[in-house]
Amino acid sequence: MLATLIHKRVVLGISGGIAAYKSADLVRRLRDAGAEVQVVMTAAAQQFITPLTMQALSGNPVHTELLNADAEAGMGHIELARWADLVLIAPASADVMARLAQGTANDLLTTLWLATRAKRAVAPAMNQQMWAAQVTQENVATLQAHGVTVFQPASGLQACGDVGAGRMLEAVELAQHCANLFQTGLLTGKRVVITAGPTREALDPVRYISNHSSGKMGFSLAEACIEAGAQVTLISGPVHIATPDRVQQIKVISALEMLAASQEAVALGCDVFMATAAVADYRPANIAEQKIKKVGDVISIELVKNPDIVATIAQLPNKPFMLGFAAETERVEDYARAKLHAKKLDMIACNDVSRTDIGFQSDDNAMTVFWHNGMKHLEKAPKAYIARTLVALCAKQLINHL
Ligand code: C5P
Repeated sequence: MLATLIHKRVVLGISGGIAAYKSADLVRRLRDAGAEVQVVMTAAAQQFITPLTMQALSGNPVHTELLNADAEAGMGHIELARWADLVLIAPASADVMARLAQGTANDLLTTLWLATRAKRAVAPAMNQQMWAAQVTQENVATLQAHGVTVFQPASGLQACGDVGAGRMLEAVELAQHCANLFQTGLLTGKRVVITAGPTREALDPVRYISNHSSGKMGFSLAEACIEAGAQVTLISGPVHIATPDRVQQIKVISALEMLAASQEAVALGCDVFMATAAVADYRPANIAEQKIKKVGDVISIELVKNPDIVATIAQLPNKPFMLGFAAETERVEDYARAKLHAKKLDMIACNDVSRTDIGFQSDDNAMTVFWHNGMKHLEKAPKAYIARTLVALCAKQLINHL
């Protein structure tokens, strides 16, 4: 479960140690999970692995020197410190940990470590005797007291032939630990039900009425809710996106099926209901049993209104906190607030669909969120970002709802 790493910015510091070869794999895993990676290497690290290798894997120039005018003209050390969401040093040698614990800033890595407000973590790697040394353990305790996360080394056979604790964790474990650092806990223990994607309304055995909803917003929200510690049921119409890890997905086709699945899921317990689905407003009054034949130049199809799923759930006694979505082209605030009241929602997120660069099929979105006594504009950003902000807003308002 690495979804929390999507669009996260990681500065990976590499200090001198044979475990540096594992950092190459770590860069690849972090990037595969959707993170951006900038690599900083100490002089000693470059004895073990080349900057060129790390540049190729990270897709960015590697930073090696503090007082290099060319490098500072690109991304300087302060800029790098500000850019990061996480600074991870892996491997962290005994020497680098001693310098970090002291607050020494005598190279690029230790300087940016001091200058950052990002999360900070170290993955120590050293000989077992060096790891066990009292001064190393004191340095570890000092770093922890400074708020640094220490990814404790594993035990086993070491490169030097010793056996004991001091082996750096494997890249796959470190990537997971990094992802875990971004779990927010905002919805810990909460149950969230999300509707997503389009619905398909059958006309006959082979034809249907539907829309272009991709489901991306609902799936991004599902991931953001998992990241926030919630238990998530995702009720989705036909979409082409992989189910996020740990999400219980219920696949439906029509609006009536989506309503029934929503009612069932809510009956099992639900604290927050998020309606992102683009439910077809109407369905054919009758589904033809056989394929409709091509007769005549004009045919009419009678349509009947579908139930409003979010409004139906909002009628329940003990209703969950309700987040709805709206797409408007004009008078966004007026229409959004009217919908907030009409559907008995607690919050509504509104897309301006007159913009062509966001929305339906796009990976980006921008929206304005309204609740009873407030509003917030969310600038254009990847749906994963927007989803995280929405979850944070819901979590804040949920406290008032309880
Ligand atoms: O009324 P409108 O379709 O603009 O409302 C959009 C909001 O209502 C969305 O949150 C959508 O998921 C929800 N909705 C629903 N059932 C419907 C129609 C819309 O849950 N039949």
